Amino acid sequence: MLADVNGVRLGYSDTASGVSAAVHGGVQSPVVVLVHGFPFNRSLWDPQLAYLRTKARVIAPDLRGFGASEAGPPGPLTMEQHADDVAGLLDYLKVREPVLFCGLSMGGYVGLAFWRRHRERVRAFVLADTRAGADTEEGKANRLRLAEATEQANSPEPVIEAMLPKLVAPGIAISQDGGRVVQETTAVRQVRAMMAGTSPRAIADGLRGLAQRPDSTELLAEIDVPTLVLVGEQDQITTPADAEALARGIPNARLEVVPLAGHVSNLENPDEFTQALLRFMEEVGGSGR
Ligand code: MLT
Repeated sequence: MLADVNGVRLGYSDTASGVSAAVHGGVQSPVVVLVHGFPFNRSLWDPQLAYLRTKARVIAPDLRGFGASEAGPPGPLTMEQHADDVAGLLDYLKVREPVLFCGLSMGGYVGLAFWRRHRERVRAFVLADTRAGADTEEGKANRLRLAEATEQANSPEPVIEAMLPKLVAPGIAISQDGGRVVQETTAVRQVRAMMAGTSPRAIADGLRGLAQRPDSTELLAEIDVPTLVLVGEQDQITTPADAEALARGIPNARLEVVPLAGHVSNLENPDEFTQALLRFMEEVGGSGR
């Protein structure tokens, strides 16, 4: 489905179309918003959607530039713009009540920007494989170099080459035999396909947007909604130590580690990730904001 939001056409899915609000454990579940990471799209959430659609209304946008969404004017794709787009999509869908915002990696950075700008719309958070800190100077420089390489190649290949080995848990997702990849898991194939389908323009502007995101560490103490922090036990991009710091900083947060998973923990271990999400939905289901 497509929605006109903030001057761009955004792709999204919404399980509520034609379905009455779901009741879970005797209480009405909050609307769940699933926000994907970089450089992915809403199909990241396919394994969760299959379970969640009977439990809650679930909305999953393609952030601008990704999936079926237009990129809008050239320039960095900022976390603030993405957060305003999510709020605009909720307006478009007439969702007025606070939502359970679940973001993975960049989706979590967008969640923190959403809290900064639209906190009255958050009932609870799931922050998965993400962190509060800004990039280091070296991290920023690497992103800007990768943005240029992507533009020069006019292809997602540089980013696939740079990111793919770090996205999945080493030794679990890819089996190697004398350096040759002999087996790719479904998660690796899905991640590669999402990256390969992203335009070089969105990758380059996305990298520039990521590089300029602010440090949100100070913001964490202000987050007063129930929060579940999830992290793949072998996440090499936003590590379990980053997740611990995130959970420590948020007053009402709990940390759960997803076993046998790296950075894309929802794809690498969909059962454990989804069960953790469902338990949390049950906990927050009945409580008002
Ligand atoms: C993501 O998965 O969204 C990215 O890995 C985030 C990042 O590079 O910081």
